Amino acid sequence: MKALSHLLDSAKLIDPNPVSLVCSKTPSGITNLATVSWWTYLSLDPATIGFAMMKPSYTGEMVRTNKKVVLTVPSDKISPKQIMQCGSFTGRTKEKVKEFGIELKSLPDCDIQIPVHSVIAIQCALREFVDAGDHYFYICDVENVYGDENETPLFAWKGYSKIAPAKEV
Ligand SMILES: Cc1cc2nc3c(=O)[nH]c(=O)nc-3n(C[C@H](O)[C@H](O)[C@H](O)COP(=O)(O)O)c2cc1C
Repeated sequence: MKALSHLLDSAKLIDPNPVSLVCSKTPSGITNLATVSWWTYLSLDPATIGFAMMKPSYTGEMVRTNKKVVLTVPSDKISPKQIMQCGSFTGRTKEKVKEFGIELKSLPDCDIQIPVHSVIAIQCALREFVDAGDHYFYICDVENVYGDENETPLFAWKGYSKIAPAKEV
């Protein structure tokens, strides 16, 4: 084993890594999508998930303000380019869903729309957020979970620079 110069170098060695589109609602009522790999299950009882977002992220600001968020895992019917675009521009200055042509749908009892082609959707309420350095870690109570077994999940490869499905070997 050799010493790695950066924590992120370790992610390249454990490809593929998860990828999600975190959906939050902006003041104008539209959905903002942000690509987030650093999310995790945290507890089953109570059902809890968490995700880390850079402190200046617009998504983070919306989640801290509205206390509501839906974490989705995109399927391969969403293009890798669209996922990279959602992870390269901020919703602060760009209406990503419209500009990148991502089709949305509604969930029951939820006022945040999500991408049509999602494998899972975890509807959450923010419990608390923790200062983790250059990121805040958002700890969220799960309110509802949805899934579509006919959709194929996408993952992040090569240090988060490529989006593709995982192949069983
Ligand atoms: C594959 C991929 C994974 C990413 N994972 C994260 C992440 O886990 N946390 C984070 O803060 N940003 C992550 N990003 C970057 C954010 O998506 C990016 O900063 C985005 O512009 C934030 O949008 P917002 O300001 O609308 O919230 C990722 C980007 C890509 C392309």
